[in-house]
Amino acid sequence: MQLSTDQVSRYQRDGFLVVENLFSAAEVADLCAAFDADARVPGPQRVLEDDSDRVRAIYASHHRQREFADLVRTPRLLGPVHALLSDQVYVYQLKINAKPAFGGDKWGWHQDFLAWQLADLLPAPRLVNVAVLLDDSTEFNGPLIVVPGSHTLGELREHRSDQHRSEQHLDPDDISLRPDQLAGVVAERGLHSVKARAGSVVFFHPEIVHGSAPNMSPYPRRLLIVTYNDTRNLPMTPNPRPDYLVGRDTTPLRPTDVVTGVSR
Ligand code: SIN
Ligand code: MN
Repeated sequence: MQLSTDQVSRYQRDGFLVVENLFSAAEVADLCAAFDADARVPGPQRVLEDDSDRVRAIYASHHRQREFADLVRTPRLLGPVHALLSDQVYVYQLKINAKPAFGGDKWGWHQDFLAWQLADLLPAPRLVNVAVLLDDSTEFNGPLIVVPGSHTLGELREHRSDQHRSEQHLDPDDISLRPDQLAGVVAERGLHSVKARAGSVVFFHPEIVHGSAPNMSPYPRRLLIVTYNDTRNLPMTPNPRPDYLVGRDTTPLRPTDVVTGVSR
């Protein structure tokens, strides 16, 4: 899988790129079954919705489920990541934001790199996020919303909030933009919500402003996000966060086409 020069230019200009139907319905069904299995594994990697036993997010499923270990190595993701970032990448973080039907909560407006700079002393925004839609994403179920072009505006929040929504991970609420900051960038750049079929993929920049609304629909919105980091951009902190949040294996990933159906 190779991106065209036009697709690479659009990513650089807008800070995101949607590639539709990169995975088949059967492959998505396999990934959803693997998510269901992983959702039964207790531990700090599993974050629940407030006041509920429903899953809000699961981290590092590629450490436990073969389907996700294969997914992060598929040429369909690594080909574009090599073109957009570097051919020397490893998985910095993998999470699945489950946003369940009838009440999955919002993800506040934020820029990812700010979080990783603060928490991990990551030197540079030399990463790319790859979001794989595990459900159809519509206007009803809290789709990912981005501010196009906002990755060029620099950091829009100077300090981490004193309030920590969760002990298990750094929730976007902890680093969210102030209302006046969001209003300013939206006045300049507008908003775009990603509406696409399950199996589609969104590549997005670590400095783009993004977030998503609560899900009050009867449809879940499971979104898997793999963040690849350049192997020359390792965290500098002497106190690393747990390995479900920040990957320790920095060996460059090579595309593989073995094991399960999602590896081609
Ligand atoms: C995030 O950026 O961490 C959350 C985005 C989403 O799941 O809508
Ligand atoms: Mn984010």
